[in-house]
Amino acid sequence: MIEKINAIKETFEKEVSQITDMKILNDIRVEYLGKQGKVTELSKLMKEVPNDKKKEFGILVNEVRMLVTNSLDEKKKELEEKDLNKRLANEKIDITLPATTLSNGAPNILEKTIEDMENLFMSMGYDVIEGPEIEQDLYNFELLNLPKGHPARDSQDTFYLEGDKILLRSHTSPVQARTMLEGKGEKPIRMVCPGKTYRRDDDDATHSHQFMQIEGLLIDEKVTLSDLKGTFDVAAKHLFGEDCVTRFRPSYYPFTEPSVETDISCFSCKGKGCALCKNTGWITISGAGVVNPKVLEMCGYDPKKWHGFAFGFGLERVAMLKYGINDIRTFYQTDLRQNKVFDRKEDN
Ligand code: PHE
Repeated sequence: MIEKINAIKETFEKEVSQITDMKILNDIRVEYLGKQGKVTELSKLMKEVPNDKKKEFGILVNEVRMLVTNSLDEKKKELEEKDLNKRLANEKIDITLPATTLSNGAPNILEKTIEDMENLFMSMGYDVIEGPEIEQDLYNFELLNLPKGHPARDSQDTFYLEGDKILLRSHTSPVQARTMLEGKGEKPIRMVCPGKTYRRDDDDATHSHQFMQIEGLLIDEKVTLSDLKGTFDVAAKHLFGEDCVTRFRPSYYPFTEPSVETDISCFSCKGKGCALCKNTGWITISGAGVVNPKVLEMCGYDPKKWHGFAFGFGLERVAMLKYGINDIRTFYQTDLRQNKVFDRKEDN
């Protein structure tokens, strides 16, 4: 009997040392501790053992059961640990791998310029308003002292949508007429209006069939050209720095009288002359003037009581100068590389 027990112990120890996975372990557990397992069968032999040997036999069988149970439990732990280590090794995160870079979005430079100018003019008491891009000939031309056949219409080669009455606005100035008509000749006006405008231009580095302007209109009882000059001066210094010098050059627009082109001193060469300012030392950034009394009258404001000035900035022009962009088409192309350039300019 004792020999039998020892034989079982011996084969068990051999088998345990050869366990390499859970399946083998479970098979061995059944082989020894299952219903017909080797250890279970041993206990069944108890009835054949003489009474005086029963105690000793019982102790020996128990020892074997403990040995098998403990060894298998230990082996199980060992296997689980090995398995865990293997998984940890496989799933290890390699912190030396370079991270995938996320590219940040950047505010659109035109949008940023608009916002900047809106904030500036709001700080001077102006309202920001909008007008329609599909406009009537009436507002785009007639109420601005550009009757049919007026030669100045030619300089704004216009997209007509329906006959000769409905068009894509060729400038933001129709919003002047709309605002005055709304004011009914009764109240002062301070407004700026940014927005898209359209002309039948061929697209090149400085022209686009669609571009943006920011219109300004101020109407009050005592307004002169020098108020326009002061306002333009503040705007120019805000946009291009405190040492920016401004000047007016005589010009012609049917809706302003007198009319001017507004120049800033070239910030690139400080007025000495360079490619940017075409060696003049000056850069033109808007058209402006004193509101023509005829326009005031047509739009319901008594020119004997009311006076005003108006201006129209080319928004892309301002943004191009401010951010050093040399082709207007880059604003309207969906080239993500260009956005990156905008992004960097943003940082400066
Ligand atoms: N509307 C003019 C243009 O598009 C600019 C302008 C606006 C001129 C206001 C005078 C006053 O060229």
